[in-house]
Amino acid sequence: MAGREAFFICRSCKARLSLAEARYKCICGGLLDIGGLDDAFSASSLECDAHGVFRYRRLMPDIIDGHWHEATMAEGMTGLVDLNVKELDMRGKMDYTMPTLSFKDRGAAVLMAAAKALGIKSVVQDSSGNAGNSIAAYAARLRIDCEILVPEGTSPNKISQIRAYGASVRVVPGSREDTAAAALKEAESGRYYASHVYNPIFYQGTKTYVYEIWEQLGGKLPEALVVPIGNGTLLLGMLLGLRSLMAGGAIERMPRIVAVQAARCAPIYRAFMNGERTVTPVTNEGTSAEGIAIAAPVRGAQMIEALRELGGIVVQAGEEDIARCETMLSKAGIFVEPTSAATVAGAESWARAEGFSGSMVLPMCGAGLKSLH
Ligand SMILES: Cc1ncc(COP(=O)(O)O)c(C=O)c1O
Ligand SMILES: [Zn+2]
Repeated sequence: MAGREAFFICRSCKARLSLAEARYKCICGGLLDIGGLDDAFSASSLECDAHGVFRYRRLMPDIIDGHWHEATMAEGMTGLVDLNVKELDMRGKMDYTMPTLSFKDRGAAVLMAAAKALGIKSVVQDSSGNAGNSIAAYAARLRIDCEILVPEGTSPNKISQIRAYGASVRVVPGSREDTAAAALKEAESGRYYASHVYNPIFYQGTKTYVYEIWEQLGGKLPEALVVPIGNGTLLLGMLLGLRSLMAGGAIERMPRIVAVQAARCAPIYRAFMNGERTVTPVTNEGTSAEGIAIAAPVRGAQMIEALRELGGIVVQAGEEDIARCETMLSKAGIFVEPTSAATVAGAESWARAEGFSGSMVLPMCGAGLKSLH
């Protein structure tokens, strides 16, 4: 298929870099996107020999072609399940049922298949826990050495799981931002930075989230897609997937996009509501939704731009509501981490305030067991 020889393109100076250059940002310091990829969606581009994410590999850069098979653990094509929320048409996409129990497997499978193709032998990454688990698992599978940096206070089960994959774990004192700074130092020293934040190949995996929903709903999307946002890997992947569906004529208009932050750590919400283009870091006041507790999102400006392109909005979820929704979901048989409950809480208050009664799909993005303290 034509148009799969993709490259990195700098968001600042527009320089093009080969995907074979194991860089995490441009020489000018700018963030990288993927360019040169023709991923207009068409049903004929689906590959029926793969389950989930790699079913859509013809819509991804060709760098993964020789290694997706070795990487895959049948991640993706997770079910859609009614969340049993009173009077609302809310369905959860069960991404916590993936190999490492969170949606991050979508991105990690694709990024690590690419790393393998580049002959990378060792990677470093930082994470609030789930992305680290995903990278560690796929590194193990592909026999790549792996070190994951996590902030102090990360759920012990997430740390144990990373270690179980054979990766080394460094617990960094201080905030999530201190952990990010420590990882950047490693990346500057020349180690391959398998970052879900910096490396845009990750978003080639998260974009499959919307392809799957489109297929599962019989060739259409729900009226609203609700998405938790911390660093924005699912939001930015969704944008790519939606553009791709639009370019291929599979959808004619965008669904409503509702992005959710935890009220106690909401830099994107603040910037969006103030009509700003850039995002000022906030202080994380402490939230149970550790997956979205990102006080200084690296791609913050890009997330705001994405939300504007999509005509989306940002809402907040408070701690009491998060806890209430966590219990409500458990009672409906769905044991997820507070970050997933925050998504439901944000969606519920938005829908009730707006009088919105249309169909909604939300990611049940991480498993409850992983975040038990
Ligand atoms: C369970 C869960 N949900 C949502 C998110 C938010 O994803 P992102 O930071 O890419 O926006 C994360 C991130 O770690 C997560 O672990
Ligand atoms: Zn540049």
